[in-house]
Amino acid sequence: MFPTASLLSTIFLALTVAAKPVAVPDSPISLPIARRLNTSGGAINLLQHDQARAAALRDRAEAISSGKMSRRAAAASIPVINEATSYIAQVGVGNPATTYDLIVDTGSSNTWVGAGTAYKETSTSVDTDEPVSVTYGSGSFSGTEYTDTVTLGSLTITTQSIGVAQTSTGFSGVDGILGIGPLDLTEGTLTDEQDATIPTVTDNLYSQGTIPEAVVGVSFEPTTSEEVTNGELTFGGTDSTKYTGAITYTPLTTTYPASYYWGINESITYGSTTILSETAGIVDTGTTLILIATNAYSKYQSATGATEDNTTGLLRITTSQYDALEDLNFNVDGTTYALTPNGQVWPRSLNTYIGGTSNYVYLIVNSIGTPSGEGLDFINGYTFLERFYSVFDTTNSRVGFATTSYTDATTN
Ligand SMILES: *[C@@H]1O[C@H](CO)[C@@H](O)[C@H](O)[C@H]1NC(C)=O
Ligand SMILES: *[C@@H]1O[C@H](CO)[C@@H](O)[C@H](O)[C@H]1NC(C)=O
Ligand SMILES: *[C@@H]1O[C@H](CO)[C@@H](O)[C@H](O)[C@H]1NC(C)=O
Repeated sequence: MFPTASLLSTIFLALTVAAKPVAVPDSPISLPIARRLNTSGGAINLLQHDQARAAALRDRAEAISSGKMSRRAAAASIPVINEATSYIAQVGVGNPATTYDLIVDTGSSNTWVGAGTAYKETSTSVDTDEPVSVTYGSGSFSGTEYTDTVTLGSLTITTQSIGVAQTSTGFSGVDGILGIGPLDLTEGTLTDEQDATIPTVTDNLYSQGTIPEAVVGVSFEPTTSEEVTNGELTFGGTDSTKYTGAITYTPLTTTYPASYYWGINESITYGSTTILSETAGIVDTGTTLILIATNAYSKYQSATGATEDNTTGLLRITTSQYDALEDLNFNVDGTTYALTPNGQVWPRSLNTYIGGTSNYVYLIVNSIGTPSGEGLDFINGYTFLERFYSVFDTTNSRVGFATTSYTDATTN
């Protein structure tokens, strides 16, 4: 299902445009990412947003695999964009470029603009007349597919297919999405060509010879601010200033439905207690918490002695329980990534944003809502990714992780 093969069978017209010779940059190009907590609707229910996203990711895979990708099925099942916390990159479209604030999403693959700042046509804009319509769990857009020049930092993509929203709901404060999930997730999103896929920005950077490999490196850092630009997206490679030691890779999982996303196999131990036996799940920038199967969650709760907090929905511990917390170990293909006690805690200075009490200690590990054995038994979300550098490698069908200078930080 991964692009090298899929690209050949892609029928969308953007691909038939011959790649022009492009100067290959000396090094991969990095784009800053801002994190925003969206408190415009009052306190954020992190858990509700994340569990809804997990359910939508599952439904989406089901709709594709069962071949029921009618427009209606697609509309009902595309993963929700997390309204609570967004990770935003500035992306240029057109020449001269208009800059759009786009949500960076590894769980969807369409790139589109126009929710906030209107699309501005320039001489590079080509209207394909293809209607495109995507309904997310928490909003939607519909409009027309264009091809245009897209700039990501100093990288230029020519004839990138992008959606231009005529109408959209649920995206106040942003302009659209930069979808960097697998190519197949675009299937069914063009109204009149249900079997077509739309090459992602990563696919086009690679096919146009601009980057040597279809690889995206992602760096997040822990933050105690409501809004901060401390993330970085690197196209075509990794940024060695953002991690320590070596990156270790694991093949993408073959287990459905995790295999539709950036899915991997892992097991989880709390101290030396097994919480989750080896199983498949996903790595996802659009999920804030770390979600694990219900049975694993129960084990984690009893091991930590945490209680469920009715106001936030999160697990809560006392400060003496915090002092006794052990590492939560993510074992991936023989390598262990230890999430420290501090890494298991929501930043206390942000407690009130999630409806919590400022001096309480809330845990960022929670339930995915379904028991293990269903093929999507964990989501390593943002709270994992802010402690470990991650690499999304389409060319080699693998995901990589490395420790960073923040892995053991005590910022929370
Ligand atoms: C922020 O939250 C409000 C209300 O909950 C919602 O309408 C809006 O779409 C959200 N914005 C983003 C960018 O998700
Ligand atoms: C992942 O786990 C599944 C189920 O145990 C197994 O079939 C598969 O070989 C494992 N590895 C990969 C890369 O999928
Ligand atoms: C949480 O809600 C449950 C059920 O509504 C109730 O029995 C329990 O007392 C509540 N706990 C706290 C700490 O408020």
